[in-house]
Amino acid sequence: MPRVAYVNGRYVPHRDAAVHVEDRGHQFADAAYEMLMVIDGGLLDFAPHMERLHRSLGALSIAPPMSDSAVRVVIHELLRRNRLKNASIYIQVSRGVAPRDHAFPQTRTPPGLVMVARRMDYALIARRQSQGVSVITLAETRWARPDIKSTSLLANVLAKQEARDAGAYEALFVDADGMITEGTASNIWMVAADGTLVTRALDQSILAGITRQAVLSVTAARQMALEERPFSRAELKDAAEVFLTSSTNFVMPVTEVDGQKIGAGKNIGKPGPVTNSVIEAHREHVQKETT
Ligand SMILES: Cc1ncc(COP(=O)(O)O)c(C=O)c1O
Repeated sequence: MPRVAYVNGRYVPHRDAAVHVEDRGHQFADAAYEMLMVIDGGLLDFAPHMERLHRSLGALSIAPPMSDSAVRVVIHELLRRNRLKNASIYIQVSRGVAPRDHAFPQTRTPPGLVMVARRMDYALIARRQSQGVSVITLAETRWARPDIKSTSLLANVLAKQEARDAGAYEALFVDADGMITEGTASNIWMVAADGTLVTRALDQSILAGITRQAVLSVTAARQMALEERPFSRAELKDAAEVFLTSSTNFVMPVTEVDGQKIGAGKNIGKPGPVTNSVIEAHREHVQKETT
């Protein structure tokens, strides 16, 4: 059965799913996107993903192409046509098609909207969660507004490839003050020696991860201690535990940073107990919040 994608109002075979050469998303990365998970037919955290899409589009002055309920209908239609129950849904909204000029088009152009569904293997994520992943750190090279979920991701692409080339799973950016910002496609957390969870507070230097927000609420409900503050590469390497969060990874233990194993004693280089309890807490959230 051929895959089907949604492109500007039409369901088309995936192999023919294309946008115009002068789509501004294609030429300028003048676009915002979302990635959300479907688990057993239910959409995970749909409302917060749509809120963030509206925030990104607002920051770029791009009009939302359709209502949230219409987006939900398209997602379900994509799932139906692709016969998928466990999938990632990629949604991209661009400023539309116009003759190439850096400034916004003077005449009203309808925004471009594409959506792609892709099969997800949640068992693979669970296996990875039981083993942990390694990360490297790199100097921050992104533009100054990573809080906007725009498709301007070249720095992330190059950093992720550096991670791949180094045999690592993810690359973390380090800002000019030596503080970790986030991963190329994930937020980053550490567990201090006393068990306190530490993650950078939201500012313009990181994306407000939907998984980050879910972890904040489930850990608060369990009265786990939390500090939202920046931390350095040295502090990260010294942490009792490290994990990252994202829609495609959920809560993922990080067991090695720049080749150095995380943790101490019998937990060294292994997912730690606090991380495992955060994974459990987030799994309960996933069960509750897939609508
Ligand atoms: C740069 C960046 N930070 C953080 C995240 C995690 O966000 P979320 O939990 O909403 O997937 C992502 C997700 O792709 C990302 O690209």
